[in-house]
Amino acid sequence: MIRLITAGESHGPCLTVILEGMPSGVPIRIDAVQEDLSRRQQGYGRGDRMKIETDQAQIVGGVRHGFSLGSPIALRIDNRDWVNWQQEMNSQPVEAWETQRAVHQPRPGHADLAGMIKYRHQDMRNILERASARETAARVAAGALLKQFLEAFDISIFSHTVRVGNVEAGTDAQKLPEPKALRRCNLTPMRCLNPDAEKRMMQAIDQAKEHGDTLGGIFEVIAFRVPAGLGSHTQWDRKLDGRIAQAFLSIPGVKAMEIGDGVRNAGRPGSEVHDAIYYHKSSRGFYRRTNRCGGLEGGITNGMPVQVRGFMKPISTLLKPLTSVDIRTKARKDAVYERSDVSVVPAAGTVGEAMLAFVLADAFLEKFGGDSMEEIRNNYQSHLSWLQKI
Ligand SMILES: Cc1cc2nc3c(=O)[nH]c(=O)nc-3n(C[C@H](O)[C@H](O)[C@H](O)COP(=O)(O)O)c2cc1C
Repeated sequence: MIRLITAGESHGPCLTVILEGMPSGVPIRIDAVQEDLSRRQQGYGRGDRMKIETDQAQIVGGVRHGFSLGSPIALRIDNRDWVNWQQEMNSQPVEAWETQRAVHQPRPGHADLAGMIKYRHQDMRNILERASARETAARVAAGALLKQFLEAFDISIFSHTVRVGNVEAGTDAQKLPEPKALRRCNLTPMRCLNPDAEKRMMQAIDQAKEHGDTLGGIFEVIAFRVPAGLGSHTQWDRKLDGRIAQAFLSIPGVKAMEIGDGVRNAGRPGSEVHDAIYYHKSSRGFYRRTNRCGGLEGGITNGMPVQVRGFMKPISTLLKPLTSVDIRTKARKDAVYERSDVSVVPAAGTVGEAMLAFVLADAFLEKFGGDSMEEIRNNYQSHLSWLQKI
């Protein structure tokens, strides 16, 4: 239903994103896009580049006078560092020029070597410029628009940091965080709900930095007030859990994901895992008192919050580099170091929000779709009225 396509290199002139399939009439605020872009740049452990760039998105198509037109929405985010890379990243041949910035020593854990082999490049800058997570700024900008679509139906999405390295947030896993607390923790350096754990996370990052090392961790994304009935059990590629998994594992550095208590449930008996079903006639209809399934059963949302975790590996660009090989001489060499983050778990959470917004908006349009917000509102209303009757 929705297509999200990005283009652009990390040190090229700009990032571009096209979002196709947004209906007409979605109220669009550019300041909400700015807010999410700025959240992606924050978090303790980010590198110096975040100080150079203050991302600004410009809407260059598909929106007029604050509302989507139904045509593709295009956004542009300039790379401020481009001024320092105009020779290296010029789209046209540059004469009599020698680069100091060619990359011949691949970083273990990054796309450098695998990409070089696949695309037959000599200079791995041709790979890392696109593999860089700078690209996620474009996804976050598009995600901010998709969140505005979802907000029109009262669906909101938040993220928080659950673990950095071996420091756990230590919050009660059984208790769903409140949107108010999640909104508040947006303003903190680690976006962690537990201030004590937050301090220890920052200390762990300082220590890793001192040792020229990096840290991964876990972030959680929660979508509230998601209606029951998105996704489908009828075909493997329509199952919403599978679609969320694809979206999450596409986030650079995210190597595993969990829906609800998915991983932890594998070691528990069924009686302690499955969420008992209750019914309240006057207000809630069918409901659960627990949400260990993370709001998804049979690949379909069940009306409980959708709760997803992303497991991030440590950043692969190390100040104290790992062993690598010079691809020209095949001699043993240190991996290249280029200005880099030490840990990015809160920022990855912001990207996770964008990816969950994409999957939910796509599934929402599948179920209640129309070309305009008016049609979608009518369809949604009819679903809500039907729920009242059963
Ligand atoms: C917000 C964000 C920032 C990142 N920053 C860096 C970075 O500064 N240096 C780095 O080596 N990797 C960084 N990564 C991770 C790499 O982009 C990622 O490991 C790489 O593209 C290889 O992809 P893979 O880990 O998914 O296999 C970042 C990831 C995210 C989500």
